[in-house]
Amino acid sequence: MPLSHTEEPDWRQIFPQVTLQLSDFASIYAGITPSPGQIDFMNAIVSKAPEHRQVVAKVHRKAGKTISVAIAFARLFKHDPTLKIFHLSGSYLQASRLYDYFKPLVTNRELFPDALIGEPTRYWTKFKKGGCLEVLTASAKSIRGGDADILSIDEAVLVPMNLINAAWPLIRASKFPKRIVTSTASAEINLEWFIRLWQNASKLSFDRHEWPESECHWINKEESELAKLMLDSQTYQIEYEGAIAERRGTVWDNNLINAALVDPRKAEEYPLPAADPLTEKWTALDWGFIGQAVLLFCEKQAETVYVRDCRIWSKESYTSIKQEIKEDFGDYPIYPDSEAVADNEDLKRMGIRVVPVIFSKEKDFLISRVRWRLEQGLLKIPNPDITDLAQGIDGRKYFTLVQQMKAYHYNEKTGKPEKVNDHACDALICAMKHVEQTSGRGLPVTVTSKSDDLFG
Ligand SMILES: Nc1ncnc2c1ncn2[C@@H]1O[C@H](COP(=O)(O)OP(=O)(O)OP(=O)(O)O)[C@@H](O)[C@H]1O
Ligand SMILES: [Mg+2]
Repeated sequence: MPLSHTEEPDWRQIFPQVTLQLSDFASIYAGITPSPGQIDFMNAIVSKAPEHRQVVAKVHRKAGKTISVAIAFARLFKHDPTLKIFHLSGSYLQASRLYDYFKPLVTNRELFPDALIGEPTRYWTKFKKGGCLEVLTASAKSIRGGDADILSIDEAVLVPMNLINAAWPLIRASKFPKRIVTSTASAEINLEWFIRLWQNASKLSFDRHEWPESECHWINKEESELAKLMLDSQTYQIEYEGAIAERRGTVWDNNLINAALVDPRKAEEYPLPAADPLTEKWTALDWGFIGQAVLLFCEKQAETVYVRDCRIWSKESYTSIKQEIKEDFGDYPIYPDSEAVADNEDLKRMGIRVVPVIFSKEKDFLISRVRWRLEQGLLKIPNPDITDLAQGIDGRKYFTLVQQMKAYHYNEKTGKPEKVNDHACDALICAMKHVEQTSGRGLPVTVTSKSDDLFG
């Protein structure tokens, strides 16, 4: 029976002893008025119809995904306290929220009189009739195993593939097997898997659900407007509108790159560097094992980051590069890519503050922060076409940086930036770490003053 929000199932037909519609159930027992999209999603979760055997929801942040899952679970247990549900949560926080939403429902004596064995915990709720809800978070090393009727994966982009693979077959022996996958399409470790599932949903027999922010009456629209200023357009679309990033074409808009190029002869476009320690200055380095090592020297004045120098070495030994860095930039912290462990250790031994950048974890986030700075006009690079040696201006130093930034593009198949001639881009990405830190899942906190915990 295909369902839409205008057409809820007739519960009396499905479960003869149940008379409440899901939306009433949610409002009476969970105290919320679910949005049409939430109602559709919850109905799909509780439905036994074959077209709802597997359900996937891709929705923006705070859209009420987890609470919908919790309410639907309670509804299912109310009907059938022998069900076994295995819930794999992308993070401890998500698991805790599920518990916070679920616990008041299952401990409500009107709904579940004397139904539980003991008190529910974050990890187990056990029913006397044999059913249970088991919750595991993505930090688990392995799946404990056992059979389940329903496998639910919440914030799936955060769940490593080995756990998904281990959990996937748990429901195979069930008479009412079901899989539920929910997430925002954030740039996290398992994004590719989630997007593939979403895009091939009909082939994979998954029923798709999404709902817009406009129907989420509990979301503060002013906060969304503020977030627009703090996030690059792509991150905003993913996190606040529930979209999938278009990871194709150039990584950064070439028009925005052109707009970031300044004339160093004009103080209003490119103010002189301030004396130390009035502003923050730092370097970023991509060691570039094959070919080029690239160093950028940056300064932050108010909110704007100015690129002050760009050095590219292709023939020099690492020993002489390190010496040059020590002599010219030794007083400033350096943000090198983390892979050259021994070389980074050398820099440390030379007395430089070293903050390695872990590309596997931080690259996507830092790329989005470069995009945000370009969109906001908060990144300035000397125009490579302007050279006036008499005035000490040598734009040619920035030629490769700008050229590589413009050419930097996503691989069509993997959706990841292509690793060709990207050393200057990687140095720029490293440079962002001085001014940007993640807060929780992907969302940035702009670092506005020198912060010691950056170097901890
Ligand atoms: N229909 C609703 N009416 C009122 N409040 C709601 C409704 N749905 C969700 N909320 C509230 O919105 C907040 C977020 O809900 P929930 O954690 O389920 O969202 P989510 O989509 O899982 O969020 P995240 O993206 O952080 O995982 C909670 O405070 C919840 O109580
Ligand atoms: Mg959630």
